[in-house]
Amino acid sequence: MVLANDLYDSFGRTLIGSNCKLTANYIQKLQEYGFKGVYIEDTLSEGITIETVITPQVRLEAQKYIRECNIDACFSVAKRMVEEIMKKGVLTLDLTDLRSYDDYTYAHSVNVAVYCGVIGMGLDMSERQIGYLVMSGLLHDLGKLQIPSEILNKPGRLTREEYMIMKSHARLSYEIIKERWDISSFIKGTVLHHHENVDGSGYPDGIDGAHQTIYTKILHVADVFDALTSKRPYKESYTPIEATEYLMGGCGIMFDKKVVQTLLTYVPMYPKGTMVTLSDGSEGVIYENFGIHNLRPIIRLTNGEMIDLTEEQYLHITLITQTDLDSGEEEAERTEMIETPTPYRIMVVDDMKTNLQMLRGILEPLYEVVLIKSGEQALMYLEKNPYPDLVIMDIDMPGMDGIEATRRIQKMTERKVPVLFVTALCDKETVTVCRELDAAGYIVRPYKPVYVKAEIKRILTGRSEIE
Ligand SMILES: [Fe+2]
Repeated sequence: MVLANDLYDSFGRTLIGSNCKLTANYIQKLQEYGFKGVYIEDTLSEGITIETVITPQVRLEAQKYIRECNIDACFSVAKRMVEEIMKKGVLTLDLTDLRSYDDYTYAHSVNVAVYCGVIGMGLDMSERQIGYLVMSGLLHDLGKLQIPSEILNKPGRLTREEYMIMKSHARLSYEIIKERWDISSFIKGTVLHHHENVDGSGYPDGIDGAHQTIYTKILHVADVFDALTSKRPYKESYTPIEATEYLMGGCGIMFDKKVVQTLLTYVPMYPKGTMVTLSDGSEGVIYENFGIHNLRPIIRLTNGEMIDLTEEQYLHITLITQTDLDSGEEEAERTEMIETPTPYRIMVVDDMKTNLQMLRGILEPLYEVVLIKSGEQALMYLEKNPYPDLVIMDIDMPGMDGIEATRRIQKMTERKVPVLFVTALCDKETVTVCRELDAAGYIVRPYKPVYVKAEIKRILTGRSEIE
């Protein structure tokens, strides 16, 4: 294999130049560095140009200034980033960033700034507004540089205290810039509130969507999308499709729907030049993914044939994603990264059989699942059996509803078992009830499996995938 573009480390030093032949030795080294993939030059990829939104030069400079906490230099590089983003005209973004993340925070901040800028463009914002977004993206995690790396990169569960320290980074970032007269209050507010959820359950101030600026909502979505698609010491990376599912599952709870939709319009689900397997068994590379081709790309098969999945004759063919291939396996591996001495047991309470079956389908490869049809039966089960590690409770049930059932369960178990609500409505009332009962969270039907799994893992392991 011949390398298609230069590879850098996080300091901007060239590791291997383009056109270099990859020996087994190089490949091993790259794996050790944490590269998940590289672009190679071959007949299959001929004619496919991978365009980055910002040039590698600007990316590396931005990373350097964040590392140095050099805010003046961040300003000038943000300006260049805005120019490059706006100059692109066609708003496609290719996920070319296959490099390693040994210094996650810096690379992450630049990625987030790019996503922010692209979403701003998608929402027809002015150059000044896009500038606020890009600058907020660059600065949002500066406070993390003050958090001990033992906490930042801890593979396992965070203690309550560690989690509080982790959460302090939003305010710490704000503290660094708050006295500067030359930074807009929009940027300051966006940095401070980048972990606020639209239902008011975020931090540090718990403000809801009605009190958030559009900048805050955009930064939050961009931040989580990049966090999910990155590999971290405590989790594997999500594919763009999985990250998308997560964002959609969290709409109205964590994220603003319009912002999520804009991100989904401009971020390719199948990056150009990456290998894919099709449902008929053939293989190829993504050739075109713009616009309607985002979910139905044009593919160059290994035999050189081009097929356009939007054409009628190919509509029966689907793309097999990595997730389909390893089904529960990779997920189980992810869960395992956080040691599980005993498998977790989850009780699902729902009056609808189809709902129970659906949750069983999602959870059974990973956990021991107990299905229960009513609140009364749940209480009976708990009287006779050891307590589960988590209860997933439907709110709307005939007879004893999920709220009453939860009150009784909490009384019986002395609040030792966390409860995750399932609801068809995410209105103010639901949010208030969840808070009053100190629920571990809630998910809204129809739910997205990726979101449900991530939520459950967060509750059971005390480790969020999006920090
Ligand atoms: Fe953050």
